[in-house]
Amino acid sequence: MWKYIKKYIHFMILAGLCMILEVTVDLLQPRIMSRIVDDGVLGLSTGGVGDMAVIVRLGLTMMGLVVLGGTGGALCSVFATIASENAGNGMRKDAFRRIMRFSFPQVDRFGAGALITRVTNDVTQVQNMIMMFVRGMIRTSYMFLGSIFFMFSLYPRFGVIVLCALPLIAGTMVLCLSKANPGFAKMQAQLDGINAIMQEDISGIRIIKACVREAYEKLRFGRANDELIGTQLHVLVIFAFMSPMMNLFMYLVVIAILLVGHIQAGAGGTTPGAVMGAVTYTTQLLNSILGLVMLFQNISRGSASWKRIKEILHTEPELADGTFAGDAKVRGRIEFRDVSFAYPGTAKPVLRHINLTVEPGQTLAVMGATGCGKSTLIDLIPRFYDVTEGAVLVDGVDVRDWDQQALRDRVSIALQKSELFSVPVAENIRWGDEDADRAGIQRAAETAQADGFISAMAQGYDTPVAERGMSLSGGQKQRVSIARAVLKKAEIMIFDDATSALDLKTEADLFQALDREKSGVTRIVVAQRIATVRKADRIAVLEGGTIAACGTHEELLASCPIYQDIYNSQMGEGDEDDGQ
Ligand SMILES: Nc1ncnc2c1ncn2[C@@H]1O[C@H](COP(=O)(O)OP(=O)(O)OP(=O)(O)O)[C@@H](O)[C@H]1O
Ligand SMILES: [Mg+2]
Repeated sequence: MWKYIKKYIHFMILAGLCMILEVTVDLLQPRIMSRIVDDGVLGLSTGGVGDMAVIVRLGLTMMGLVVLGGTGGALCSVFATIASENAGNGMRKDAFRRIMRFSFPQVDRFGAGALITRVTNDVTQVQNMIMMFVRGMIRTSYMFLGSIFFMFSLYPRFGVIVLCALPLIAGTMVLCLSKANPGFAKMQAQLDGINAIMQEDISGIRIIKACVREAYEKLRFGRANDELIGTQLHVLVIFAFMSPMMNLFMYLVVIAILLVGHIQAGAGGTTPGAVMGAVTYTTQLLNSILGLVMLFQNISRGSASWKRIKEILHTEPELADGTFAGDAKVRGRIEFRDVSFAYPGTAKPVLRHINLTVEPGQTLAVMGATGCGKSTLIDLIPRFYDVTEGAVLVDGVDVRDWDQQALRDRVSIALQKSELFSVPVAENIRWGDEDADRAGIQRAAETAQADGFISAMAQGYDTPVAERGMSLSGGQKQRVSIARAVLKKAEIMIFDDATSALDLKTEADLFQALDREKSGVTRIVVAQRIATVRKADRIAVLEGGTIAACGTHEELLASCPIYQDIYNSQMGEGDEDDGQ
């Protein structure tokens, strides 16, 4: 944590100094008050005649000290807040950056809900801990030691009484904290669960309503919430019992002081003012101990959270970056060399011994039954996952040796599930090329057959898109995603079933436009429809994780039974046999 704190250490030191000022003033007050009582009110040193001048003088001194202490306290809060907020900000940014570098399996392992809790709530807990540490640690420990010291200075026996009570107080504190401690880690984990449900349910609200699952989801959310409340209550009850116990011990101390004071004041050993001062110090001591309890509570909670943030910060991105940044010799060649792949944590391979080459400028179509591994196959090209065996080569270089950014710069991809962001349409397309101007964006949209509907919208390219593209139809979303892929100046284009929601005419227009605008670009098209793939240079048919056949439409039609089956099943659509 030092890494995040050290930059703001000067603010923490300033906060500490201001706090010392505030506590010093607090500690001086009872001492002055006891003099006001003894000398000003009772006149013990002047034969029983009170002295108004002493009362006024010391009263004004007390007021001045209050102002000074208050200023110290306020400045302490300001400096401590600056330090803790900035340290938290640094942690949040680093955690976010780290998450962005995680591989997909790493994101899956943490879970989106847990990652969100860690970057938000856990960081806030750590911020609180830093804040409380700077303010509370100095305040409580100084107040604690100061009160004992001043009690000794007022009358040593008062100090001894307090020291006798300390083991009891410390024992109770340790017991309560050890009982409450596991609750803090549990609370954060339960918060993860709540966030995960919230996230899933809000993004899936449509399907929840369509399947009439509101009641079930309410129950699920309610159960997760109840569990959290149960843990919170458990911790609260422990601390709720702890405060009265502390009070009890301190009142025992007060009674003992009053008894000893009563005996000793009569015998001339101490004065009423000193007894009064000692009682006030006892209260301050109690406050400091309660403060200490709060502080430990905060530290326990903060350290549980810090452990969780550290898990993110210390998780090394699984995909080690290579150094190859690309050269100009070969552009757009893809080779799968004896590739096998199983998803991390699963035993069954999705792909087995795939050998496949796509030459620059060629179009390869990939077909196969749903779930046979088409998306998995193409995910290996931009290295979303690492192969289990064999190698994927782009431009003749193993993707593991590529600098990841350079590799992904060369690949533009329209995913199966089009992901849009809540920014205007133009901005969504601009993700493909940050430097593109409006004309470039429009040209890409025209190629993607999206210009028509975008221009027809009230605000055209400036129309805001709802979160996750909810304000657009399935086919519109796909076309915006394709426009984004078209805009990117990449030598490899991948369409993962990215045209499935388009009607056949629009799809045919799209591929014609792509042939015109993006000739020379290597293209991989995953699709279910013969109409989409028939013009490809080659079509690979995947089955059971292996390539069952690979060839042109005509070759496969003549020799591949699986392809023939697909063809025959789609004949009824009326567009397969017209040679379009
Ligand atoms: N992240 C993942 N973790 C574990 N298994 C996965 C993961 N993603 C996919 N799979 C499994 O891998 C297999 C292949 O999935 P993939 O998405 O590649 O199929 P697909 O051919 O693209 O199917 P579709 O045509 O439906 O898009 C499936 O059996 C699926 O259950
Ligand atoms: Mg798929």
